Amino acid sequence: MRIAIVTGASSGIGREFVKQLPYFYRSLEEIWVIARRRERLETLANMSPVPLRIFEGDLTEGHVYSKLGNALETEKPNLRMLVNAAGFGKIGQVSKLAETAPSSQMEMVDLNCRALTRMTLTCLPYLSKGSRVIHMASAAAFLPQPSFAVYAATKAYVLSFSRGLGAELEDRGIFVTAVCPGPVDTEFFEISGSIKASWKTRVMAKPEKVVKQALLDSRNKKAVSIYGIAIKTAQVGAKLLPHRLVMKTFNVDSSSKKERHHYAENHNRRKRGGPEIRQDAGEVSE
Ligand SMILES: NC(=O)c1ccc[n+]([C@@H]2O[C@H](COP(=O)([O-])OP(=O)(O)OC[C@H]3O[C@@H](n4cnc5c(N)ncnc54)[C@H](OP(=O)(O)O)[C@@H]3O)[C@@H](O)[C@H]2O)c1
Repeated sequence: MRIAIVTGASSGIGREFVKQLPYFYRSLEEIWVIARRRERLETLANMSPVPLRIFEGDLTEGHVYSKLGNALETEKPNLRMLVNAAGFGKIGQVSKLAETAPSSQMEMVDLNCRALTRMTLTCLPYLSKGSRVIHMASAAAFLPQPSFAVYAATKAYVLSFSRGLGAELEDRGIFVTAVCPGPVDTEFFEISGSIKASWKTRVMAKPEKVVKQALLDSRNKKAVSIYGIAIKTAQVGAKLLPHRLVMKTFNVDSSSKKERHHYAENHNRRKRGGPEIRQDAGEVSE
């Protein structure tokens, strides 16, 4: 049986892969989809021209890998494509997130790096000559990002892992593509918090376009897929310009410099057991 596996299929980019895959790979007999929200996957299954097999579960926990591993072991499918799209980001300075969303930064590492790697290892034995792997990295992988530091680091991992793995698998005729878009119009920002920087709206891409480009690049055995001239330029800029300079221009934090300074000042005051400063009036509040 010829199948594709897509993680993060309940929303955004992963969902779009499930919609476009049947048109790129007409011989697919099933697509196996993974996410936590079963009802979303069922709705997608009702629309899909190819049967979907649903694996509901949290990729940072073990049981979804057991279910998938058992199904792979029993049916020994011909896995033509693995798409690792599940992932999330959270905007904010490392020390601030450690207080406001204490588990979020470790969860980013768990999902974006550990789960992606585990899924790849689970699926690797079922890939064969001509198969493709697509990993959702991000333009955030190109350079360190203040106020998105852990997310950018996880995506640098994905890009590096994908390129290394791709070089290893090339001799077996298996091709790995890391997809590195800038902002894409999905539910991602409901979880990450919004980027208010003016450049964001100018470069925001539609998931349909990013996915189509990714599938074309994967078919053409490209190691990296980048949609849009602005993000391609950003990639070249990140290679040529000093990172200190680029980091200043592309800070994703929606709060102003004054707000960030205010937070840092209060953080230090709290540590000393002192009173906090109210931001609006610059007053000391008890
Ligand atoms: N949108 C952007 O601007 C952008 C830009 C560059 C790269 N990316 C990357 O593209 C990928 C897809 O993002 P998106 O924009 O499509 O975001 P999205 O709409 O929020 O979709 C994220 C997907 O990941 C799944 N997911 C999240 N946590 C999970 C968990 N613990 N276990 C299993 N599944 C989980 C979600 O499903 P459930 O909630 O149902 O589990 C959902 O299907 C991510 O890796 C993201 O980092 C996004």
